[in-house]
Amino acid sequence: MAESCLIAQISDPHIKAGGRLSYRQVDTAGALRQAVAKLERLAPRPQLLLISGDLVDFGRPDEYAALREILAGSSLPTYLIPGNHDHRENLRAAFPALPHLFQHPRFVQWVVDDYPVRLIGLDSCVPGASHGQLCPARLQWLDATLHQQPTRPTLVMLHHHPFTSGIAHMDRQPLRDAGALAEIVAQHPQVERVLCGHLHRSLQARFANTLAMSCPGVSHQVSLRLGGAGTPSFHLEPPGYLLHHWTSAAGLVTHQGFIDDYPGPFPFYDDNGLID
Ligand SMILES: [Fe+2]
Repeated sequence: MAESCLIAQISDPHIKAGGRLSYRQVDTAGALRQAVAKLERLAPRPQLLLISGDLVDFGRPDEYAALREILAGSSLPTYLIPGNHDHRENLRAAFPALPHLFQHPRFVQWVVDDYPVRLIGLDSCVPGASHGQLCPARLQWLDATLHQQPTRPTLVMLHHHPFTSGIAHMDRQPLRDAGALAEIVAQHPQVERVLCGHLHRSLQARFANTLAMSCPGVSHQVSLRLGGAGTPSFHLEPPGYLLHHWTSAAGLVTHQGFIDDYPGPFPFYDDNGLID
């Protein structure tokens, strides 16, 4: 019988506490509540939820408490990695019941073998900095972990983008040791995707003989401005999510969906054929 696995991904919720708005504009808590509700309504249901960093806005305990309260509304097993807005110790303190957060003694990085697709989360954070770095210790852990199961389809997730996005202010804060990551990933063809957040929009790029892709923001989107000085800004474009659908017959196919509801579905056909 064909095996399958349906994985939802959202990114960069940037939760604030006490109903405060991010950048005085964005109701990030409300946006995440809407996203959780949307994912709960999906049919077929995803088997799990990945959140690719910037879980909260300033890494504070009260923000993580707000995040925990919102995620309690989700019935999906949820796997978290930190982003540059996060704080490792405060994250762990808020989610003592999530064992994956405690797998590695120093970094919030983990491997999950409970599904047909193997999941690896990496901690690309540099405390106090906006850019990402995996460092030799984290990269060696990744290489060793990938060597353990060389034939199982695998998703590798980290917060920072390991490719050039073309959005200038984001490319000033990328994953700095992307070349070292690429050398490792290239040696492990079971890596179906390298997933990231950070960019707050959906991008795809070839990376180390596989596909790197970023997840849309679950609340606000980084402005699509290529070239120029790259003044940091965001737009309130439709927030989205990714659905990674793996089947043993077709491999991994990734869909982008939107959190908001839109008119439809409308039929293409009626009793006379294609509607004219
Ligand atoms: Fe972010």
